[in-house]
Amino acid sequence: MSAEDPAASRESRAHIRQMLLIGAIASAVGIALALAIDWFPTQASVQGEKIDTLWDVLLIASVPVFVLVETIVLYSAIKFRMRPGEELKDGPPIHGNTRLEIIWTAIPAILLVGLCTYAYVTLTDIEKAQANAMNVRVVGEQFTWTFHYKGEDGKDISSNQLYLPENTPVYFTVQSKDVIHDFWVPAFRMKIDAVPGIDSHLRVTTKAGRGDYPVVCAELCGLGHSTMRQTAHVMSRSDFDAQLQKLAAGPKPAAGGGGGGGGETDGKTLFTEAAQPTACKSCHTLADAGATGTTGPVLDKVVPDLSEAEIKQSIQDPDAKITEGFQPGLMPRYGDSLSDEQVDALVKYLKEVAGS
Ligand code: CUA
Repeated sequence: MSAEDPAASRESRAHIRQMLLIGAIASAVGIALALAIDWFPTQASVQGEKIDTLWDVLLIASVPVFVLVETIVLYSAIKFRMRPGEELKDGPPIHGNTRLEIIWTAIPAILLVGLCTYAYVTLTDIEKAQANAMNVRVVGEQFTWTFHYKGEDGKDISSNQLYLPENTPVYFTVQSKDVIHDFWVPAFRMKIDAVPGIDSHLRVTTKAGRGDYPVVCAELCGLGHSTMRQTAHVMSRSDFDAQLQKLAAGPKPAAGGGGGGGGETDGKTLFTEAAQPTACKSCHTLADAGATGTTGPVLDKVVPDLSEAEIKQSIQDPDAKITEGFQPGLMPRYGDSLSDEQVDALVKYLKEVAGS
């Protein structure tokens, strides 16, 4: 800079002090606001706790950067704006201020290295293998998740709802039968793609206390993507063991009721309840069930023209015959997941109410 005029120098120092003061106050307000906002849904895993802390630290670090830059821009635009008659005036030519350049390079560099290190430590921490982890295999398909457990005798136990004991490390193996899906439980703060032909893995340690949390597909996977939602139930160890036993026993004839819905045989309940492996209402329209889904054919229209055998086939093996205007592969085959008795109950119910 050219020879300094002490008065001008005093004035510019006063401006800088004022900017810093406004910036500091605005930063404090900004941080308080950012931390007061409830950004995420309920948090229900040990990993989630660490991720939420990382988020808070990122807010504390980034809010002042944003606020300080904005303060300087606004302050300069107001205080140093061009007044009438000043059109030809320009500021003093500045070339090279090593001290300033070192400061504005060093501060962001230190910030970035610090935050990256912290994020890396958090990442290794949440992905660390846990002793005695429970294994759960998650299989995605258009448009549902199936959860597989190992029974006491090594037998595969499957469920359309995710059941987990509290306070337990879980090791998920995530697979897909058809296209890419993404297994996500927002409350756990963890998600991972389900890719055909590849096993992907995810670790979640549940916290104490019971709770129900949505399981979501987070990868656009077809027309029924938005219906690919189920529930994760975190429960006490004894409740969990009882639930697994119930699932292992499989569909019981006329058992009725029960949260898992393994043995449900009431046609309307099978049709409507999301807890059932069918939940037909998410894709089909049927006035009697209050269902308004539009992904699949409108049942009030198509069912009256179908024989019972045709309806049965459409549920067990939907791609055998496709309703005009719809694509194969849209509806899951229910031949494996529903018992014969359950399919018959659905057929009977549909025949009774469709088109009425
Ligand atoms: Cu599966 Cu989106």
